[in-house]
Formats: sequence, structure tokens, C-alpha cells
Amino acid sequence: MEQSNQPPGRRQPDAAPTFGHFRNVRQQFRLSAHTNFVAIEDISFDLKAGSFVSLLGPSGCGKTTFLKIAGGLIRASSGVIQINGHDVTEPHADFGMAFQQPNLMPWRTVLKNVLFPMELRGDTGAGVRRRARDLLKLVGLEGFEDYYPAQLSGGMQQRVALCRALVHEPKLLLMDEPFGALDELTRMEMQDLLLDIRAKTSATIMFVTHSIAEAVYLSDVVVVFSKRPAVIADYIDVSLAYPRSAEIRYSAEFTELEHRAGRALGITQ
Ligand SMILES: Nc1ncnc2c1ncn2[C@@H]1O[C@H](COP(=O)(O)OP(=O)(O)OP(=O)(O)O)[C@@H](O)[C@H]1O
Ligand SMILES: [Mg+2]
Repeated sequence: MEQSNQPPGRRQPDAAPTFGHFRNVRQQFRLSAHTNFVAIEDISFDLKAGSFVSLLGPSGCGKTTFLKIAGGLIRASSGVIQINGHDVTEPHADFGMAFQQPNLMPWRTVLKNVLFPMELRGDTGAGVRRRARDLLKLVGLEGFEDYYPAQLSGGMQQRVALCRALVHEPKLLLMDEPFGALDELTRMEMQDLLLDIRAKTSATIMFVTHSIAEAVYLSDVVVVFSKRPAVIADYIDVSLAYPRSAEIRYSAEFTELEHRAGRALGITQ
């Protein structure tokens, strides 16, 4: 796969302005009149504009909940949540979301699935259709615009879902284990594709994964959540240069970062 996943001169995230600001985010769910269930205890970190941040943590620790809070899909019990300088209290136009399952509409063609978010916005003009086609080309699906989801492989469906998440040019891309259902080889291809897209769109990405290697390979920063109720177990700056290629996975630096994440998760000593 071509390795163009970093544009020349991309601003280092360290120097970039803050795009997402999370302070003392806490989430509890009310189970009954007398019982509250604390999913997230206390999470604080900043998201630099254009950065790629992975959330890594054990099952049930609150990662999906945190993504939903960042997108305004659920309201945190307390804490400060700001995206692009605005308090997040309801779903906002700045984000696109992709999930583990592509969730495509089977009765719609590939192109019409990608255009769906724009239909909801009442904008399916020529410019938007061109953008949808350009995105499909970017993910290697040129020529498949009129196919139906059932005629595509799982990896191809996930590429369509990625285009759908990007079609309204979101500043923030929220991804919840988007490659979890793919085989290892397709997964690695999708990781490179995502870095490529990130370089071309300059979107800020918050990416949930269970895979330590995936988190290290993709990210500027890996935020490790503790087991529920979540606090930050470690905040790992990934100093590996972009563009990243498969060889880097075998470097001592990569292994050390994986080891550190493993320690934060309590897997290794
Ligand atoms: N609407 C809800 N009402 C009550 N409890 C909830 C609700 N949503 C999530 N939870 C609970 O909050 C905790 C965190 O859930 P969440 O889905 O965020 O975990 P996760 O880290 O994404 O897990 P996984 O890695 O398995 O996807 C879980 O124990 C879950 O049961
Ligand atoms: Mg989840």
C-alpha cells in the first residue's frame, strides 16, 4: 500500500491549537430510583486540532459512552466538554461517526448510502455528489457507486461507511472499533487508508480500539482508560514519525510503546 499518510509539513499536534477540551467528565446511569451506575469516574484531556487520539481500555470501561458524549449524543452527568470552542450539550454538526458494523442501508446503492447524511441536511447538489464520488475513489471504490451493500465484502462496506462519515466534511471523526470485525490483513490496509484520509482531510480523529498495536500504529496519543468506572490509566505520547509503515511495527520503540500500554491495562508488568 502506498505510504503517503502524512502530508509534507503537517503541523505537529504539539503546536496545534486545542480542538477538544474534556475536564472531569463523569457519567453515571440511573438504573432505578435508588441506584446509580458509574460508567466514567473522571476523565480529563485535551485533543489537539488535527491529532489522532485513540481510546484504549477494557470492555465495559466507558469508551463508547465517552465517544457519544463527545458527539453530544448523550449528555455527561458532569464535567466540561468542549469541541471547537463550544460546549457540547446536544448532537453537533462538527462530527462524523463510524462504528464496528458498517450499518449500511441494504436497499440503497453505495453512492446513495454515502449521500444519506447530506439528504438529511437537504443538500444533494452537484458539488455534494462530486464529493461523495471523490471520497469513494479515495477509498478505492471507484466503479462500485451503483452496487448494493450485499454485493460488497465486509472491508468494502466499512470503506463505504467511512465515506458516509466523512461526506459532510466533519472536523471531528469519532470511530468506535471500526475495524474490529475485519480480518488482520484488511484491518492493516484500512489503518493505512485511514492515515491517508486523515492527512488529506486534516480531520481530528478520536478512535476507540481494543488493539494495543492498532492504537500505537495510528495515533499521536493513546489515552488508556482504566477498568470501569474509568479514569485515565495512562496518557501516551506516540513519538513515532509519520508516515508510518508496516516495518515500524517491529521496531524497539513500537514494542516499548505497546509494552507501556499493556502495563497501563494491567496485562504486563
Ligand atoms: N444507557 C445506559 N444505561 C445504563 N448503563 C449503560 C448505558 N450505556 C452504557 N452503560 C454501561 O456503561 C458501561 C460502559 O459502557 P460502554 O459501552 O461505554 O463500554 P465500552 O468501553 O465501550 O465497552 P466495549 O469495549 O465492550 O465496547 C457498561 O458497563 C455499560 O453497561
Ligand atoms: Mg464500546
